[in-house]
Amino acid sequence: MPAATPAPITVALLGGGTVGSQVARLLTESAPDLAARVGAPLQLIGVAVRDASRPRPGVPADLLTDDAAGLAARGADIVVEVMGGIEPARSLILSAMAAGSSVITANKALLAADGATLYRAAADNGVDLYFEASVAGAIPLLRPLRESLAGDRVVKVLGIVNGTTNFILSKMESEGADYAVALAEAQALGYAEADPTADVGGHDAAAKAAILAELAFHTRVTTDDVSCEGITGVTAADVEAARDMGFVIKLLAVAERTADGAGVIVRVHPAMVPNDHPLASVRDAFNAVFVEAESAGEMMFYGRGAGGAPTASAVLGDVVAAARNRVSGGRGPTESVYAALGVRSIDEARTRYYVNLDVADRPGVLAAIAQAFADNGVSIQVVRQDGHGDDAGLIVRTHLATEGALRRTVDNLRTLDAVKSVVGVMRVEGEAGP
Ligand code: NAP
Ligand code: HSE
Repeated sequence: MPAATPAPITVALLGGGTVGSQVARLLTESAPDLAARVGAPLQLIGVAVRDASRPRPGVPADLLTDDAAGLAARGADIVVEVMGGIEPARSLILSAMAAGSSVITANKALLAADGATLYRAAADNGVDLYFEASVAGAIPLLRPLRESLAGDRVVKVLGIVNGTTNFILSKMESEGADYAVALAEAQALGYAEADPTADVGGHDAAAKAAILAELAFHTRVTTDDVSCEGITGVTAADVEAARDMGFVIKLLAVAERTADGAGVIVRVHPAMVPNDHPLASVRDAFNAVFVEAESAGEMMFYGRGAGGAPTASAVLGDVVAAARNRVSGGRGPTESVYAALGVRSIDEARTRYYVNLDVADRPGVLAAIAQAFADNGVSIQVVRQDGHGDDAGLIVRTHLATEGALRRTVDNLRTLDAVKSVVGVMRVEGEAGP
């Protein structure tokens, strides 16, 4: 007797935009391969969008619907949420899980704001929750953290996780491009979020940092726990000063254990990175993330962090994993926040700094400035003076210091007669030594 054809695994898609339309295309174009890998065919049963009358390349017109609530609750084996935003995405995901659907989402904003609710609903309903595409687009990063490194102890995660800002900073650096022109190009290429302030303000990277920190340190971390600065304050002068000193400016997401191992600090901010550091050569919309673990040592994950097709690749990987679980009766990993480390203030973070000062050029000025650093326990690594007279600029680079000590130093510098203004302060990451 011929073997019975396995029943299809049904897939509902919430969102048919940059990512969703590519997911639909790949589900159709790769159908035979996906069926062979899963052990059953995948059947797309609907694509929810706001405007179902607008044709979408790669999405069969008869599958488009503006009834997202109806599609989410239809009981598909797998619901893929690529709409974005907190609501109605969260309600739709909860409704899908209540109907017995496993959920794949790329929605870092929702996961970082209220991932706990999604995990709880997945556990209560005995379904899977996968979200590989939510951080660093196509790059397999969350599965290694969640599964491959489950036997190790992660110490630090450091990376470039926002394609839009990396694209903008790369253009400013290599072409001297105007900020607004570079942003418009990033939007046209589908890298930027619908509201680009989430990208340039650092909030998109902060959401990703929270997700990474939670997985790396088995501790619940939400967006509110992340200290966040975007790139809107980075000027062409900063980029040029960094270049003169052999650095590039990158928007970094950093999650690290505190020195006592009992806490975690999560931060997103622009930082100067030395030209010979591997992150310095990560350009355009590419992302790269360093993970340092006690036994494994240092690893770097690199690839396309944004864009429709790359992100759809990560979504499809999750669809295959959830579909295999349906076929085999298995379950994906559940939430792991047992370590419950305290999330500490950025004031405890230790890094190096670049401080750019507009100063009077007269005897004793350097001594007064050096004293302000010394009074706060901040050790100076390099001092460079540009210009003279009324036009003197002083650049100071420090050894490792805490954020709190550096802030107090800058406050003191602002009170000195010799300092006309503090032109810029930026963290320096990726240098070896003290
Ligand atoms: P997008 O291009 O704006 O697409 C959003 C889609 O959702 C559109 O099809 C939209 O319908 C639909 N939609 C939005 N609100 C809806 C509602 N209330 N009811 C029904 N449909 C609704 O966004 P995207 O760039 O594909 O991003 C989707 C998700 O993936 C977001 O969570 C984003 O953070 C994440 N992500 C994106 C990227 C990327 O590179 N773009 C990378 C990683 C993760 P209409 O088309 O009719 O407006
Ligand atoms: N807007 C995001 C970025 C999309 O630029 O990285 C990928 O999450």
